[in-house]
Amino acid sequence: MLIAGNWKMFKGPSETRAFADAFDSPEGVDVVICPAYVSLAAAVEGGLTTYAQNVHWAPEGAFTGEISAPMLRELGVQGAIVGHSERRQLFGETDEGVARRAKAALEAGLGVIACVGESEEEREAGQTELIIRLQVESIRDAVGAHERLVIAYEPVWAIGTGKTATSDQAQEVHAFIKGLVDVPVLYGGSVKPENADELLSQTDVDGALVGGASLEVESFTAICRSAARIRS
Ligand code: PGA
Repeated sequence: MLIAGNWKMFKGPSETRAFADAFDSPEGVDVVICPAYVSLAAAVEGGLTTYAQNVHWAPEGAFTGEISAPMLRELGVQGAIVGHSERRQLFGETDEGVARRAKAALEAGLGVIACVGESEEEREAGQTELIIRLQVESIRDAVGAHERLVIAYEPVWAIGTGKTATSDQAQEVHAFIKGLVDVPVLYGGSVKPENADELLSQTDVDGALVGGASLEVESFTAICRSAARIRS
């Protein structure tokens, strides 16, 4: 089981240090923290397994505002999220760009959490599998079932909304994704201590990508404990 905390644009270095000091990772679960770029060094120094929230496909170049995989490696960062729905929706990232980012990160030796998920309109229009297929296949065709690749299924309508997919909805999509590429699949979208047991108990749910509830040590620890309990 892997529990990843996506801090989005929260916590600078000092709050990151405070979290690292207070957080004690429970036994029996892999835990990753994904802070903002400016807080990566503090997270690494604080002993956290640290992933970035994005990574560029080129090793270096004229790409203002971007960060490369070798730069992350130099800092002691062990992986990166790619294709988060906020990147896709708010910053125009495409399936093709996401696949390129994933490929470059894996080739540089980083782990990758590649996010996929349908919007509310797409789900209502019965297009969930179509959208998931397009997103997953573009990543799979670029990198295959790489041993450091993890997919995160995050229905866009469940992110930061308090609406969670039911465990049956999650299980169904997770099984579908595994039929396309055989890698671990995390669930993301309003995961909280109260719903973690139920979601993480599903056969094809291999962990969680947690946003809001990863910002507090107490709630994040509770979710990590659920994962450790369920695996044992
Ligand atoms: P949330 O975010 O847990 O706050 O819904 C999840 C994510 O965006 O990764």
